[in-house]
Parts: sequence; C-alpha cells; structure tokens
Amino acid sequence: MAQKQLTAPDIQARKGGEKIAVLTAYDYPTALLADEAGADVILVGDSLGMVCLGLPDTLGVTMADMLHHTKAVCRAVKKALVVADMPFLSYQTSVSEAVANAGRFLQEAGARAVKLEGGAEFAPTVQAILAAGIPVMGHIGLTPQQVARFGGFKAQGKTARAAKQLASDAHALAEAGCFALVLEAVPAEVAAHITAEIGIPTIGIGAGPECDGQVLVFHDVLGLCPGLRPSFVKQYVDLWTPAKNALAAYCAEVRAGAFPTAAHTRRMDPQELAAFNALPDWEA
Ligand code: KIV
Repeated sequence: MAQKQLTAPDIQARKGGEKIAVLTAYDYPTALLADEAGADVILVGDSLGMVCLGLPDTLGVTMADMLHHTKAVCRAVKKALVVADMPFLSYQTSVSEAVANAGRFLQEAGARAVKLEGGAEFAPTVQAILAAGIPVMGHIGLTPQQVARFGGFKAQGKTARAAKQLASDAHALAEAGCFALVLEAVPAEVAAHITAEIGIPTIGIGAGPECDGQVLVFHDVLGLCPGLRPSFVKQYVDLWTPAKNALAAYCAEVRAGAFPTAAHTRRMDPQELAAFNALPDWEA
C-alpha cells in the first residue's frame, strides 16, 4: 500500500518523539532523491538563490523563482511534507499580501505549508495565513533575509538578552499557531531551552543536538557546493570531484572522437538506407 504523504499535523505530533529529518530540495531530481532517502519534510528553501541561482544572498529571490522551483519539487515528492519558503518582501509588506502569496504556494505549486522568517512581530501574519488554512513553519535566529541588518551571516542569540528575545519570539510564534520552528545558528543551550519550553517541534541548523529535528541544505550534504562550508554542516559525501571528473572525461572523449561508440549509436535499417540512397535529392 502506498505510504500516505506526511502533513503539518503529522510533523507537529512528532514533538518530543522521533527526531524529524528535514532536507532542502529545489527541483525534480533533488526532491526525488530527498523523498526516496526518507526525509520527513522537504523545504524548498530560498537558499535556492545562493545554491542554484548564483546569488550572493537570498534577497534577490522572487515569488516567481520560488513558485517555479516548488512546482518541480511537488511533482517529485510522494511521502514528505513539502514546505515552501516565502521569499523576501512576499510577506513583510502587508498581512493580506502575505496570505495571498502563501496561498499561491498551495494553489499553484502544490506545497502543503509555507515558512517565513521573523519573530513575534510576525505573529499576526502567521495567524492570518493559518486562518486561510495554510500551515506555517517559523524561522528565528540567523534569518538570512535580515542579512543587511545583521551586517552578514552572523550567529544570533549569543548574549543573555538576545537569547531571551529569541525565547520570547519562539513562544509568540508557537502561540500564533506555527506547526514547527526553525532555529538557525543559535547556541545549543538556547535551542535546548526553547525546545524544552515550546509545544511545537524545533528544527535546528547550527543549533545543536537537542532540537526536535535537523535541517541541512541538499547540496551541502552531498558536497555539491564548492567553497567554504559553515562549521555546523556535515558533508556526507563529496560528489563535486567525481562529478567534475566525469564531465571532464566526457569533454575529452568528444574532442578525441572516443564518444559516441557503437554502443551509443543507432544505425538505419540497411534496406531503408539503400532506399534512402536511391531516392533523388530534394531540389528547391
Ligand atoms: O532557505 C533555506 O534553505 C532555509 C533553511 C536553511 C532552514 O531557510
């Protein structure tokens, strides 16, 4: 019997139980891999700006980008809950615009939840989106859409006061109805405190082992991103080097005339070929 696709209430019910494995995915093949590997939640993160589109941060990612990629992900996923990230300025300008944009991810793309970044100030937005029937995942700590204000991709919640602010944001978002909360780049003690305090699952990234689940970026797990990797990322395999070597071998074989061989070539039926050669050439 086909396994039922996980829902936001299923994920919320995992609070304090089996840990929740979350992976990002951005297109059909990455989503198929993440789903078949057993991810509980597949997040179409706006990290796609940096991972797939070559942008320096997530600020340039648009609703059109996110819808395009979320559609491809949803075509692949059979088991995981698909959560679409709301991009910069798609929910900050007004509550009604936030609801309309969140709805597009379900109606046009097939996602079954959205994620938005921000603290207690977004509680009314979360409530309004939820009232429209759209489950919301919160995201606090290092919220990349605030990179200009933070002055870079900097860990958050390092001082007592900042940690208290994060805890109070977490409470506000849980009370507003978020079904789960991403904690990004915060000290493990702060994440553990929030995890113990709130009634919804916390999903950590650079937030230590006590969270209810973890999220990593697909390309980081597989070593498909060249360059610097944050220290909290575990790269499970290096696919970049063998992938580059395979592509270089293809280029070399094409240049040397070694590809394609007979095994990769389809020849015409000899009778058809003879008939073809006997036919007069077409003249203009
Ligand atoms: O955009 C993203 O990929 C994210 C995760 C890292 C949580 O927000």
